[in-house]
Amino acid sequence: MLLAQISDVHLNDARPEAAARLARTIDHVLRLPTLPDAVIVTGDIADHGTASEYAAARKLLARLPMPVRVMAGNHDDRAGLRAAFGVQGDHAMEPFIQFAWDLGTVRLLALDTTIPRENAGELCAQRLAWLEARLAEAPAQRTLVCLHHPPFATGLRVLDEIGLADVAALERVIARHAQVERMLAGHVHFTATARFAGTVAMTAPSTSMTIDHDLSRPNEVYMLAGAPPALLLHAWSDATSVLSSESVVGDRDKSVMIHDGRDWLAPTPAPPTQSPAKQG
Ligand SMILES: [Fe+2]
Repeated sequence: MLLAQISDVHLNDARPEAAARLARTIDHVLRLPTLPDAVIVTGDIADHGTASEYAAARKLLARLPMPVRVMAGNHDDRAGLRAAFGVQGDHAMEPFIQFAWDLGTVRLLALDTTIPRENAGELCAQRLAWLEARLAEAPAQRTLVCLHHPPFATGLRVLDEIGLADVAALERVIARHAQVERMLAGHVHFTATARFAGTVAMTAPSTSMTIDHDLSRPNEVYMLAGAPPALLLHAWSDATSVLSSESVVGDRDKSVMIHDGRDWLAPTPAPPTQSPAKQG
């Protein structure tokens, strides 16, 4: 089973690069050697939460043949997102964009960490009670908990200041349920990993704008890197735990070296890829 996690697409009518980069990301997903079984988009679908931004997102994402579900980020508008994508998943929790999604041997729980018209995030008692109930009803089912705001500080001050409030309350819930394999977030536009409540928490890169986060230097400000779009892939089977890796969109080297475990084999031409579109 393969799940693709796309995040922070930030469609914006005045910035067509974001749509072009999402289109390139979708091309990339469609060309993966194994087509993902499902796609989750972990928030910030639209920059301003307008109907036209959501219509554009829906049209682009409709090119993906597998089930796709979208979550709310701080740039999103719950009503607009629901109008475009409908009520999603099981146990949908109005008025939040919060739902459960059965992915066969793994269950995905999508949380809504947004506060209308604010950039920081929160999980109120109501949303945490929903999470507790969902985890308590399926203790033996491996679970991915998805949320836009990561449950850990990244060290990048300006983003940590618009992070998730009262992380300790979420930590208490997660720590009671050993079936949580991953906490999967977006929001910060780069890939990071941290331990959280006895499980592994990760952030996904953005398709729209990559933030150049380097732990080796002071991170008082953030810089946008001229990097290609990227996403996370999460794979699992009955024999493995959940494995996660980053998948970067764009041209690769024209030849690849192949090692079969004993010897280097001759370089083999990589499959052709489309030339990258102009970046924003
Ligand atoms: Fe974002």
